[in-house]
Amino acid sequence: MADEPLVLGIETSCDETGVGIVRGHTLLADAIASSVDEHARFGGVVPEVASRAHLEAMVPTIERALSEARISARDLDGVAVTAGPGLAGALLVGVSAAKAYAYALGKPLYGVNHLASHICVDQLEHGALPEPTMALLVSGGHSSLLLAPDITADVRPLGSTIDDAAGEAFDKVARVLNLGFPGGPVIDRYAREGDPQAIAFPRGLTGPRDAPYDFSFSGLKTAVARWIEAKRNAGEEVPVRDVSASFQEAVTDVLTRKAIRACKDEGVDHLMIGGGVAANSRLRSMAEERCADAGITLRVPRPKLCTDNGAMVAALGAEMVARRRAPSDWDLPADSSLPVTEPHVPGSGGPAGEHVHGHAPGHSHDHVHELSGKNLYS
Ligand code: KG4
Ligand code: ZN
Repeated sequence: MADEPLVLGIETSCDETGVGIVRGHTLLADAIASSVDEHARFGGVVPEVASRAHLEAMVPTIERALSEARISARDLDGVAVTAGPGLAGALLVGVSAAKAYAYALGKPLYGVNHLASHICVDQLEHGALPEPTMALLVSGGHSSLLLAPDITADVRPLGSTIDDAAGEAFDKVARVLNLGFPGGPVIDRYAREGDPQAIAFPRGLTGPRDAPYDFSFSGLKTAVARWIEAKRNAGEEVPVRDVSASFQEAVTDVLTRKAIRACKDEGVDHLMIGGGVAANSRLRSMAEERCADAGITLRVPRPKLCTDNGAMVAALGAEMVARRRAPSDWDLPADSSLPVTEPHVPGSGGPAGEHVHGHAPGHSHDHVHELSGKNLYS
């Protein structure tokens, strides 16, 4: 539909510079530049290195997305950007770029939540989200069960990790196994050739008196590290494939069990899984089996849309425009700890939708068009 909002989204919360363009629920471009290789030798993301890489990649990645989408920036209905949560310096690069483009083009700016974006991206794969949506969000920084009656305005946390995030556990176990960074994809690969029942690793917080929707992966990580250490001390070879498969089985068992329980308790018949760990092949297959058994429809985007990207930000931005949510102010801050309950950062200026066909304050409409047309993307 031609009247669906055309939105560009910018993501810089961690180590991926992502720029996506969507029209409503249709993906038009998904350009990514990653600094992951620059962090590998440190075994984790170095914030200053990530910020510098975003700065260098930002303009080329925007240009790449625009040419991939074959649209003119002048036709955009809005510019969306991850306002948080994430690394402060990294977020700042994206927020500054989004402001500059939105202001110069005379388009409304939407500062959106990274976590809500991880959920909303599924609209690009499976169409409109059911309301409410139950979402299991598992990434390097977060593991949460979220109930979202309205992804643009009402996201409720049911539970989250009390220590490590699921992706963090993958990364740390990979480090102990000397598999490099990030750990998730490589453990996923080794696990395919291993026996998931080889070692009985603990399932955290699954006792009858434990919080039903909270997660804990720190005990599991320690158990795996101790098991490996014992093998090494005994001079035995560490069975990397079996350790990977058994560890992965423990993580995905707990994640899927709790997510399905939440769906049943809340009477929700859909489960959405998002975030980088949703790219995990065993999590996907186990969730598929268990959801089918429970009569729950599973929605998991393709792996490239699960890890950080700009399309997810554009998808949530487009939903903000479609629902006439208030754009953000021009002094939108980067908020490294933006709460998950705030899908976007609405501005104080004017009623919802006022800026939708509007322009940057202080600019005349014509002037902005001239600027965008001749100087930026003629
Ligand atoms: O969502 P994401 O790209 O960035 C954050 O917002 O954190 O998630 C990155 C995390 C990393 O911890 C990475 O190891 C994990 O997602 N990950 C995976 C897989 N692919 C990425 N974990 C398990 N299996 C995978 N295939
Ligand atoms: Zn993420």
